[in-house]
Amino acid sequence: MTAKLIDGTAIAKKVREQAAADVTEMVAQGYASPGLATVLVGENPASEVYVGMKQRMCKQLGMESFSYTLPTDSSQEEVEALVRKLNADLKVNGILVQLPLPKHLDDEAVLRTISVEKDVDGFHPINMGRLAQKGREPLFVPCTPDGCIYLLDEVGVELRGANAVVLGRSNIVGMPAALLLVKRDATVTICHSRTKNLSEVCRQADVLIAAVGQIEMVKKDWVKPGAAVIDVGTHRIEDATKEKGYYLTGDVAFDEVKEVAGWISPSPGGVGPMTIAMLMRNTVRAAKIANGLIKV
Ligand code: GUN
Repeated sequence: MTAKLIDGTAIAKKVREQAAADVTEMVAQGYASPGLATVLVGENPASEVYVGMKQRMCKQLGMESFSYTLPTDSSQEEVEALVRKLNADLKVNGILVQLPLPKHLDDEAVLRTISVEKDVDGFHPINMGRLAQKGREPLFVPCTPDGCIYLLDEVGVELRGANAVVLGRSNIVGMPAALLLVKRDATVTICHSRTKNLSEVCRQADVLIAAVGQIEMVKKDWVKPGAAVIDVGTHRIEDATKEKGYYLTGDVAFDEVKEVAGWISPSPGGVGPMTIAMLMRNTVRAAKIANGLIKV
């Protein structure tokens, strides 16, 4: 069996095109174009790349992008003061504080300072809390897990009643992905570093989301034949034989897993582009909320 490929690159393009069309329509109606403020604290090279991609994408889609960079030794009060300033700035519809923050900072307190209506990452405890509660909806859903579910929906994978296994329990991906799957009536198991019989648990999954941060950990015999597998991991492997001197891979051993899975979203080329697309969509939503075009 060879899995069908979930083409995150193509699906993300459609999401971005819809966001751009929404921006055009808002501007035609006389509203300001949506604005996203990014906050980067310190000098993490990967974070710099991600934030740069988010800013460029805003501009490509006709949105405003406001970039703030603070030094590594910024105090908690300085970071929170910047967030409060952005909360009060009418041109800013969404605020994204890039994680991880330097170790001396309390990220939960920073995220809590972001206005719930501008929390386009969906990491504010109120939005996360609503995600965890039955019958309640967050204003925004975290972008990477939202992208995972969007991919599964797009190819028609049934979530209701499915056995879903999430590998990883991070605040950014694993936990919100599990909560989203529960909201969609899946039966969810969250696996982590203390899980016993990991491969056996994964093999029960109709839907397997790998967000564990381990290079090609998910092997062929971890996957139930026909399962849908979403690879969230991104790892850069040095390799002198490659033109760039490295190649990218994920948490899933793609070449072997594609032989048993029913659907597979590869890494790279799967969830990565979806994360930014969902952020753009959330920023448009934030602008619509700010202008009273969506009632929440
Ligand atoms: N770091 C890794 N992923 C993310 C994300 O989706 N949002 C933010 N703010 N930081 C991240």
